[in-house]
Amino acid sequence: MQVRTLPKFYITTPIYYVNDRPHIGHAYTTIAADAIARWHRLRGDEVFFLTGTDEHGEKVEHAAKNAGKGTKEFVDSIVSKYIELWKTLNISYDYFIRTSDPEHERIVQQIIDKIAKTGDIYPGFYEGWYCVPDESFWTDLQLKEGKCPECGRKVEKVKEETYFFKLSKYQDKLLKLYKQNPGFLAPKHRAKEILNRVNDGLKDVSITRTTISWAVKFPIDAKHTIYVWVDALLNYVTALGGPGTSNFNKFWPADVHLIGKEINWFHSVIWPAMLLSAGIELPKQVFAHGWLTINGQKMSKSLGNAIDPIALSEKYSLDAVRYTLLREMPLGDDGDFSDNAIKTRLNNELAAELGNLLSRTIAIAEKHKGEIKGTPSLEAGLKTRIEKIDKLMDKLDTFNALAEIFAYVKLTNKYINENEPWKLQGSSLSEVLYNLLEALRIIAILISPFMPDTAKEINKQIGASEGTLKDCRFREFKGKVKKGDYLFKKVIT
Ligand code: MSP
Repeated sequence: MQVRTLPKFYITTPIYYVNDRPHIGHAYTTIAADAIARWHRLRGDEVFFLTGTDEHGEKVEHAAKNAGKGTKEFVDSIVSKYIELWKTLNISYDYFIRTSDPEHERIVQQIIDKIAKTGDIYPGFYEGWYCVPDESFWTDLQLKEGKCPECGRKVEKVKEETYFFKLSKYQDKLLKLYKQNPGFLAPKHRAKEILNRVNDGLKDVSITRTTISWAVKFPIDAKHTIYVWVDALLNYVTALGGPGTSNFNKFWPADVHLIGKEINWFHSVIWPAMLLSAGIELPKQVFAHGWLTINGQKMSKSLGNAIDPIALSEKYSLDAVRYTLLREMPLGDDGDFSDNAIKTRLNNELAAELGNLLSRTIAIAEKHKGEIKGTPSLEAGLKTRIEKIDKLMDKLDTFNALAEIFAYVKLTNKYINENEPWKLQGSSLSEVLYNLLEALRIIAILISPFMPDTAKEINKQIGASEGTLKDCRFREFKGKVKKGDYLFKKVIT
């Protein structure tokens, strides 16, 4: 296997707005990031996996008012829903950042001070449009039929004093960044839109508000507060303790900012420009994934089709949800998600292939009393396959990585059918069982980033302990087999 030169891996999710309870769209980003973080841990990388909540701004302030609660009380109640959700979904984050943490606010102010000292911040007057749900500014020309061009919702007129950040100054530097680091904008098909817009020229951006009090105070002028996106983007740095701290030195720059496509502009343009201005090293990659639709429709509160990930996991099992989300469409593409999609994956792949492989193997192994020993015939091609999976995971191609893993599951099932171990005894049975149990031990390792509970259950039934990628080669089988529950129960379609 390839020797890695960088044993650290820092991956982030967007920080979620706390205006409402989380739905499956939020879970999608975090589950994908979790699988990638776990894969890197399997490799032996030192991983820092960050998620958290974006708590300031107009949208959250309004939501608290509508709920008839104090803002802090309201955000605390939503934050606890996120924490509970990540626990239920088996999310292995290393740190949960809240932008209302005083430490975050302090470091944000420090970095803004630093940017101001470079001369990149100047006072002025903003007149234009603001989309509260997206917390984004738009010009007349950008609006689509008078609505937000991003989400199609209504925009508000804003006329106020503000401080601008000289984004225009960074056009050439950004273009150079994209050119010299072709992996920075990912996946490739999302790079074009950013390149076109940056090539067209950049306007300075408003970075303070005078009408929003639920925000970080602007250190240069007490009348102003910091625009929520500036405060939010900085979470990726403040969560490590800020520049100069040992955790920051260890993990920064971020290896991947995993985000949804609708917030690519903030991450691929404004964020690197802010970092360039503050003299902070740039992240290695911004990966913008696609959007989930539900039965072909956009998920929204008004349509009442926002899916609760906890209820869904209770219905189909958590790992069926995690698997379907990552197997239904490539991470970079839009795709549809439905009950039918889960049912089909659950019945045809998880129960019929993986579950069946385990239960058939265990049933035969339990009857076999002698030793389990053999020659590793199911190891043929495995090393190359794992190297391929590893490369796919480097590209965040969870979709094809899972396809490869399941091709191996299928191959192992075929091996059972061809060898008919139920007809065998003695050393020929031992030979087949050896291959099946070692294959299952390795399959458990390979699926563990995607379906951690299932991997644990396989290990329990074959008596193996948790492994890493280094353990993905056939060796002496040392486990003690013990029948357990079916991995997955089929559902009626
Ligand atoms: N707070 C900002 C992000 C700041 S990051 C410095 C934000 N929050 S959000 O809660 O509105 O959305 C966060 C992420 O949720 C989106 O980027 C996207 O990754 C994910 N999704 C929300 N709905 C989604 C779908 N329907 N489908 C896929 N992902 C979606 O934006």
